[in-house]
Amino acid sequence: MNRLLRTAVIGTGFVGPHHVDAVRRGGYAEVVAMVGTDAARTAARARALGVPAATTDVSALMADRSIDVVHICTPNASHVELARAALEAGKHVVVEKPLALTVADAEGLVGLANERQRHGAVAFTYRGYPMVRQAHAMAAKGDLGEVRLVHGAYLQDWLLEASDYDWRVEPAAGGPSRAVADIGSHWFDTAEFVSGLRVDTVMADLATFMTTRHRPTSAGITFQGPGGGGAAGPGEEVVVESEDAATLMVRFAGGGRGSAVVSQVSPGHKNAFSLEVSGARRSVGWRQEDPNHLWIGSRGQEGSALLPRAPQATDEPGVPALPAGHPEGWSEALRDLFRPFYAAISSGEPPSGEHAEAQRYPTLADGARAVRFVDAVLRSARTGTWAALD
Ligand SMILES: NC(=O)c1ccc[n+]([C@@H]2O[C@H](COP(=O)([O-])OP(=O)(O)OC[C@H]3O[C@@H](n4cnc5c(N)ncnc54)[C@H](O)[C@@H]3O)[C@@H](O)[C@H]2O)c1
Repeated sequence: MNRLLRTAVIGTGFVGPHHVDAVRRGGYAEVVAMVGTDAARTAARARALGVPAATTDVSALMADRSIDVVHICTPNASHVELARAALEAGKHVVVEKPLALTVADAEGLVGLANERQRHGAVAFTYRGYPMVRQAHAMAAKGDLGEVRLVHGAYLQDWLLEASDYDWRVEPAAGGPSRAVADIGSHWFDTAEFVSGLRVDTVMADLATFMTTRHRPTSAGITFQGPGGGGAAGPGEEVVVESEDAATLMVRFAGGGRGSAVVSQVSPGHKNAFSLEVSGARRSVGWRQEDPNHLWIGSRGQEGSALLPRAPQATDEPGVPALPAGHPEGWSEALRDLFRPFYAAISSGEPPSGEHAEAQRYPTLADGARAVRFVDAVLRSARTGTWAALD
């Protein structure tokens, strides 16, 4: 394809503008429109970002045949309907996580994309980090030996107080799971990507410490309220059932074991994603808040060391890594996550099946797997037993 692709971003809150930035900085496409629910706010957001068109009319956007790719950056419950409309209109899609609220809906999207031969990605941002990709490559080459143990955490504190509120708290907008669907899904996807293992079964214990929260009359943008939560102000007390935190144990196919703590109520932790993968020869460990280092652990003379990111860290051509000592972060990870997705569209290659593509970027099938994980977590917590993903 010779012309520059044309992209629209739906959702103008926290993450939508970062998708605009990622697509532009990668030079993948021209961002031609932003879509929101409030005309004045959407227009203001588009103007501030220099995006030429702003609309609240999703149908008109889908009917615009000049738009090739649609990014869906809206609350969880709207992902399926919007992604379905985009795929049916012949567009490629990037969908935010979690892909859907039910396994059936997630699998329905995978089927529709296959049927329409459209590319689909899910924004599992952590796969875009160079040191995460390096850890994945090391495990895949056998540098770790047979992988046995995977553990880690994803801890935040932005929902610590009963006065912190966000649409994620409401099942109608966020779904039946909160912490696990919102951030545990990232941990699950990254753990499977780095280790190369597949989770078979999960044992989950969910905790809701704040059983009521104060819902403000006016909605805020994620992370932009006082203390990092949603906007406060006049409102009402509402009952909350979704989990503030989860402790999870997993068993992988082939015998590996794992565990994770997921929480949005851990004081002092802003976005503390951590993952350690231990094989028979070496371990690798990575922390999102120190993303330019990969810890490599071994018992013998080789010792253990923090490997700094080097420009050639990923061995992947075309990744415009900064020189060593020039930190890269979350924005670059999002930008680089989309690179192979857009490259596949630009080259005109048809989607070639879930596995080949999953090595390059997280596909809709990967998104559906994470939805299966959330579903198994909820079943396990309900029954107090191990629950299978399939
Ligand atoms: N990949 C990541 O690292 C990452 C980070 C943050 C959020 N997310 C995901 O992104 C999505 C959005 O989260 P956020 O934090 O940006 O939320 P947000 O509340 O800050 O913004 C949501 C936006 O969507 C708009 N919107 C709601 N329903 C809509 C509809 N039907 N059509 C058009 N616009 C609609 C709202 O007006 C708002 O502008 C969620 O699914 C979340 O899980 C992912």
